[in-house]
Amino acid sequence: MNTLRPRDVASLTEAEAAEELEALAAEIAHHDALYHGKDAPEISDADYDTLVRRNRAIEAQFPALIRMDSPSRRVGAATAEGFAKSRHGEPMLSLNNVFSDAEFAEFCASIRRFLRVPAEEALRFVAEPKIDGLSINLLYEDGAFIRGVTRGDGNEGEDVTANLLTMPSIPRRLHAPFPARIEIRGEVFMDKADFLAFRATQEQALADREARRAQGGRLGDAVIVPVNPRNAAAGSVRQLNPRITASRPLKLFAYAMGAASEPPAESHHAFLQHLERWGFTVNPLSELLDSETEAEAFQRGMGDQRASLPYDIDGVVYKLDRLDWQRRLGFVGRAPRWAVAWKFPAEQATTVLQAIEIQVGRTGALTPRAVMQPVTVGGVVVRHATLHNEDEIARKDIRIGDTVILQRAGDVIPQILGVVLDKRPADAVPYAFPTVCPVCGSHAIRDGEDVVRRCTGGLVCPAQAVERLKHFASRRAMDIEGLGEENIQKLFDEGLVKSPADVFRLAQHADRMRQWEGWGARSKKADDARKVTKLLDAIEARRHVPLERFIFALGIRRIGEQNAKLLARHYHSFEEWRAKMIDAHVIGSEAREELGSIQGIGPAIAEELVEFFAEPRALAALDDLAKEAPPLPAEAVSAADSPFAGKTVVFTGTLETLTRDEAEAQAERLGAKVTKSVSKKTDFVVVGTDAGSKATKAAELGLRVITEAEYRDLAGLG
Ligand code: IVH
Repeated sequence: MNTLRPRDVASLTEAEAAEELEALAAEIAHHDALYHGKDAPEISDADYDTLVRRNRAIEAQFPALIRMDSPSRRVGAATAEGFAKSRHGEPMLSLNNVFSDAEFAEFCASIRRFLRVPAEEALRFVAEPKIDGLSINLLYEDGAFIRGVTRGDGNEGEDVTANLLTMPSIPRRLHAPFPARIEIRGEVFMDKADFLAFRATQEQALADREARRAQGGRLGDAVIVPVNPRNAAAGSVRQLNPRITASRPLKLFAYAMGAASEPPAESHHAFLQHLERWGFTVNPLSELLDSETEAEAFQRGMGDQRASLPYDIDGVVYKLDRLDWQRRLGFVGRAPRWAVAWKFPAEQATTVLQAIEIQVGRTGALTPRAVMQPVTVGGVVVRHATLHNEDEIARKDIRIGDTVILQRAGDVIPQILGVVLDKRPADAVPYAFPTVCPVCGSHAIRDGEDVVRRCTGGLVCPAQAVERLKHFASRRAMDIEGLGEENIQKLFDEGLVKSPADVFRLAQHADRMRQWEGWGARSKKADDARKVTKLLDAIEARRHVPLERFIFALGIRRIGEQNAKLLARHYHSFEEWRAKMIDAHVIGSEAREELGSIQGIGPAIAEELVEFFAEPRALAALDDLAKEAPPLPAEAVSAADSPFAGKTVVFTGTLETLTRDEAEAQAERLGAKVTKSVSKKTDFVVVGTDAGSKATKAAELGLRVITEAEYRDLAGLG
């Protein structure tokens, strides 16, 4: 860098200014290349900025001297808010698709009908490979590149000029002769190999970032790993910092024009030749077809070449060659009548299945996932595919080591269609789906017709822990106020709560919890300061809940509130319930018979209970919990928990299943105050048959009148 103090801009002559601008452009370009090309800058950022500012100062003084390759056109064009919007001189439209010979023939027939072209006259087309990239619109005035805009909504896009200026395949100046003003359209894309290399760099950057996160370091900018070359190209063009765009290997094929001051050619084919002469790259595989009958062979040839091309294509665009005919045909909707995209069928690929991974969802479902040798299918690198479930693997007899056929259509998740049996290794064995949970080691079982195998370690399985804890603390279960999803997640992530019993040991960690942001005693917000105390108080208040809530809170499959109630009422105490559930493991045992005899508990429910108790880890977690928070036996519970606690109840009429005395005694046991006459203070009026004036009065007062059956239900008499 020039170490002499630079001369005051105001004292420069025009010739000196031009000379310095030229030198600065070269010098800044040199540093740019070092910066992102080799990642080895020679100068500091501050020195670099000095050069850029000097360049800008001279340009401000001599605007006429601003160079096409000026660094100021490349750097800092976009604001933090994004790109400026810009309208296209003519809308950028899309293409209709065809997928077969017949559909293509119909497209040609419609052109013939529209223009009345006789059968003996051939339709000449230009066939161009269709690259799935990002289409852009480049405006040239007097041969100079003025502006580059993304397609956007077709009428208006984003001005990405500064970024496009970093692409070598976009000419700054057109070679003469050229129309005074013309919009050139083309596709920005990334080659497959460049995409794979770029993706690998991004994956590494992401891994580094995750490592920094784990160590609590500074993260820096978000890292995006693109899923396909199209995303990579689009993301690169839409970078706010052109230096980043410059580091991405982007290319452009030009293929169309928008608004133009004068028509540059009479045929599309001739127009493509102009594009090349002006300095653009036209896809070298583009070809003029003398007749529509040649399209089929061209399409087939492209399909055959597709896999070996350096870039991904998803079809071929056929454009009527005569521009006068194009003009007459015009557009229908958002697509031209004179061009069509003949798409390839969904791409398939074969690769080797290296492993089957089992993922455990939040509800305990075991889902198999194929891990394959990475392969590109339909423009996307694929390494994983879902295998759906156990039966699907068995049905297709998919084995590790097999060569599998993958298919991907559009953005859909890749699927394994089947296996290439000829390529099966001799030692490949049928896949044995695991019967234990890969996360926690508990049994994984299938329930009747269910295709899904599930982990039974609900309480102890880390994959399910947060979900289970959420249920455990929820209003209808343990009903612990303040222990919602967010706090559970935090307590789980911090390692303080892994199982339900841990909730009741939280008081030991109060000091640590108070250190957390938003939980602290030192917080200025009064709510935050009291958060830990309030939470611990709420937990303490629910240390001894009725047995039925306790059972429901365990989240055993099929044991909802109703079944929990039936069990609690039948077995009364936790100890009794626990002992009988263990004994019920033996089919035909007394305990199993007893369980089955409970009205409402069918065989499937019995099976779930027995499974739960047969899982040593679940049982250990349960015992741990019962030690910390022993539930109240069912009898004692009823009063506090029944809807009649503290309520005034009147019985009237003849009851069918209970004598009046029995009913009244029972209501009192549930905490009710039983009275003989109805008044405004009465909460419930239970009416039997032949109820007389009391029922009428209750109705007049608008009291809650219930039948004997409703009473039995509320009282938990089944
Ligand atoms: S011509 C009115 N030519 O395909 C005609 N498009 O589905 C407009 N594309 O938005 C487009 N290769 O992004 C044309 N040789 C080609 C193309 C091509 C790729 C894309 C382009 C366009 C989309 C339409």
